[in-house]
Amino acid sequence: MSFRTIPCSPADPLRVVIAGAGGMGRAWLATVADSPEVTLAGIADLDVALARDAADAAGLPDLPVGTDAVALARQTGAQALINVTIPEAHHPVTTAALFAGLPVLGEKPVAENVSRALSMAAAAEVTGELFMVSQSRRWNPQLAALRGMTARLGAIGTVSTAFFRSERFGGFRDLMPYPLLVDMAIHAFDSARFLLRAEPVTAYCQSYNPPWSWFAGDANATVVFEMEGGTRYVYNGSWCSPGDITSWNGTWRVSGERGTALWDGDHEPVLDAEVAAGEAAGSSYSGIAGALQVFVRALRTGEPPSGEVHENVMSLAMVEAAVRSATSGRVERLDDVLERAHAQALGEETRADVRNALAGWTSVRDVLAGPERVETG
Ligand SMILES: NC(=O)c1ccc[n+]([C@@H]2O[C@H](COP(=O)([O-])OP(=O)(O)OC[C@H]3O[C@@H](n4cnc5c(N)ncnc54)[C@H](O)[C@@H]3O)[C@@H](O)[C@H]2O)c1
Repeated sequence: MSFRTIPCSPADPLRVVIAGAGGMGRAWLATVADSPEVTLAGIADLDVALARDAADAAGLPDLPVGTDAVALARQTGAQALINVTIPEAHHPVTTAALFAGLPVLGEKPVAENVSRALSMAAAAEVTGELFMVSQSRRWNPQLAALRGMTARLGAIGTVSTAFFRSERFGGFRDLMPYPLLVDMAIHAFDSARFLLRAEPVTAYCQSYNPPWSWFAGDANATVVFEMEGGTRYVYNGSWCSPGDITSWNGTWRVSGERGTALWDGDHEPVLDAEVAAGEAAGSSYSGIAGALQVFVRALRTGEPPSGEVHENVMSLAMVEAAVRSATSGRVERLDDVLERAHAQALGEETRADVRNALAGWTSVRDVLAGPERVETG
């Protein structure tokens, strides 16, 4: 999708407002403050005292604060917005920003469900503003190296992720029905799409809660995705598995026609294969600082970034398909998830221009895929 560019550079940094001053909002505050390409114009939170605290803690006592991020952007002359609010606020805040002429870099998940995500993709089309989702683990140089190895293994049979941790969060995660699938697994699902350069076709999931779990909802899940081309992606995870915990990225095994690639999630991946070592295919971008660099570069050049909203939605659709399968006990088709979400988005949309854009989509999968697949720089 083409979008409005903004001429910005370290000599003329992009002025941004951050929406959301919670745990992750503070991480973004520090990242923006450290970046030579971006200048902080303000921070907003429904709880303005929290925004003030976050600014003070970052050593920025004069930073403008407010409760409405778009209004604050207008007052301060900001050119873009970083949305780090709770998932339920992603749709209203991002849509308001796009219609106010502000490109948006938003935290994962793109929205609280696929239907709202499709509405945001249509809003980006209507406004011609860039909306990129920061799926931070995609910006991991070790994952980029594993992707390079995967490309040398010929046809891929299976990719698997093991994610086993023992986390006592307290708060909302302890009460969610599917804390692992909804709050965490999206990182791995998005990484699997990136690794394989392939989209999901079906999902089968068993989600369950071990007897000793301290979570109210299902802390464990095993999901099998059939990906385009027939590769199976298998995710096996738990939030309540004391002993020999894995990396926050999980541990990965890519099993292909010509060999195997392994990644422990924290160190360089290893290739066990009868293939030439080839060029190391790394990436210069890392974590949320990498996502910010990519966002600024996209605004400057007009090149669609990895994480552009259309390209990101399928990762959330994998979560929704897994949860649906966990409740139905059946294999769920991703196309059905997309079509149902599209019908819901059309039914719920309150803006006529966005509804018209959604109504013009004949195949949701084709619209999300776009004219060409986005590659990372
Ligand atoms: N990439 C990662 O590794 C990672 C890690 C943690 C959280 N996240 C994501 O970051 C986002 C925020 O997570 P968090 O842990 O900081 O949550 P949090 O609950 O600590 O903070 C969210 C803040 O948003 C504020 N808020 C809600 N609605 C708002 C609105 N309309 N306008 C302005 N502020 C509003 C709340 O008052 C709260 O202070 C979530 O989408 C979460 O999934 C990503």
